[in-house]
Amino acid sequence: MQSLKEIFTQGEDLIGKSITALGWIRSVRKSKAFSFIVLNDGSTQNNLQIIADQDISDYEIVSTMMTGTSVKITGKIVASGGQGQSIEMQAESVEVIGQVDEDFPLQKKATSMEFLRDVSHLRARTQTFGAIWRIGHALQFATHEFFNNKGFVNIHTPIITALDAEGAGDMFKVSTMDFARIPTSDKGEVDFSDDYFGEETTLTVSGQLQAESMVIGLGKVYTFGPTFRSENSNTKRHLAEFWMVEPEMAFVDLEDVADLAAEYVKYLISYALKNCADEMEFLNRRPRIKGGKLGPSINEKEEHLELLRQVADSEFKRISYTDAMKICDEADREFEFPTSWGAEMQTEHEKYLAEEYFKGPVIVTDYPKDFKAFYMKKNEDGKTVRAMDVLVPGVGEIIGGAQREDDLEKLKAAIAEKGMNAADLDWYLDLRRWGSVPHGGFGLGFERALLYITGMNNVRDVIPFPRTPKNAKF
Ligand code: 4AD
Ligand code: MG
Repeated sequence: MQSLKEIFTQGEDLIGKSITALGWIRSVRKSKAFSFIVLNDGSTQNNLQIIADQDISDYEIVSTMMTGTSVKITGKIVASGGQGQSIEMQAESVEVIGQVDEDFPLQKKATSMEFLRDVSHLRARTQTFGAIWRIGHALQFATHEFFNNKGFVNIHTPIITALDAEGAGDMFKVSTMDFARIPTSDKGEVDFSDDYFGEETTLTVSGQLQAESMVIGLGKVYTFGPTFRSENSNTKRHLAEFWMVEPEMAFVDLEDVADLAAEYVKYLISYALKNCADEMEFLNRRPRIKGGKLGPSINEKEEHLELLRQVADSEFKRISYTDAMKICDEADREFEFPTSWGAEMQTEHEKYLAEEYFKGPVIVTDYPKDFKAFYMKKNEDGKTVRAMDVLVPGVGEIIGGAQREDDLEKLKAAIAEKGMNAADLDWYLDLRRWGSVPHGGFGLGFERALLYITGMNNVRDVIPFPRTPKNAKF
């Protein structure tokens, strides 16, 4: 059986041939003399238009078809008189595979994104989500292609970990303990010795530390896996479970890390524009009714695709945290959070910089050490670290990375400064004991990148089954 994508690829070569198509009905317009069926099977953004004349033997079946019905239709491919497609089908025989009733929630009229999240198990049946999931697939494929072409080795880092060292966010606990009878020590602390791993374990917040151990030996590695953060963030860009792409390179400095980050983001954009042109066009044309229904595109710009094309050909601006906060401080606008040196850079600052000031992606480097992780390499000034974030319009931060501290004594000092326990990190310190080299890498939030590229406006709409506070349905 051919998919619609394969059928459209052959296009006019199929004219005059009889073929069979399987799929779900997007819409059907019935009249006495003939009916007009619009079919899609998820393989492509394009729908097959099918004309069923009243003289086909099973025409009464057509009258039972509705939006959502799954069908098998055989017919002759003819040149299309309509717009858009070069071919359409003249039905010869029709068959209903699975019927729907009027309770089917996805009727042809526009439904809100919020409503569709409640029926996430049906979202793949809509044109919008079909486009998003196909673009998401393409960008995963592009990710592996990009790193493979550069000689990176893909590593699976653990999902369950006893490390609590990253400091990247709150963690979900992993345990087989009976929650009604949690064993405690004399001091009243939870006793994990009889728990499955014999110590406290959590879901990972990042595969970086393990990737670092791999890179000291393999030279270039990346991991692409699920990542978990349990902070109570109800925003358009936070998920409790998301996927992170984390490359790590040996013998590099922060400039090299920033170069790789910019090249990778541009690769993803170019890949989507080239390989998902129909999907990207569709999402850009999507009705953007304001006030609840079908939200506006994330950057509310009609020229989203044009902006992406420009970004794919541009140099990303680079600026230090110190200069970036100065720009915010001098900006003619009120921010909710402080813009003084040493203040944490918030989403509002990130969005101001990327959307309004630079009007494109910007790489911010050298953040104050106090709100960055212990493993980042300290600058000579003793106040800042060799960190870099990539900020993009509409979303803010999509990448966070750094050059790592490769000096054993300095790393030990940073661990002590953060009040962490060096004994837990002994294996990580070993990496600096034996053959330490300058190295660094970054993490790209896959859904945030997809959010930016698709121009959607909520990260919950670019992951099939979002996990957020008070929501783990499906
Ligand atoms: O900036 P983060 O916390 O960096 C790290 O975890 C480093 N260990 C990565 C590394 O250097 N290997 O997270 C990296 C990226 C962010 O820039 C963001 O895109 C995404 O992960 N991210 C989230 N995406 C969705 N929901 C959340 N709650 C996210 N938290 C981080
Ligand atoms: Mg970050």
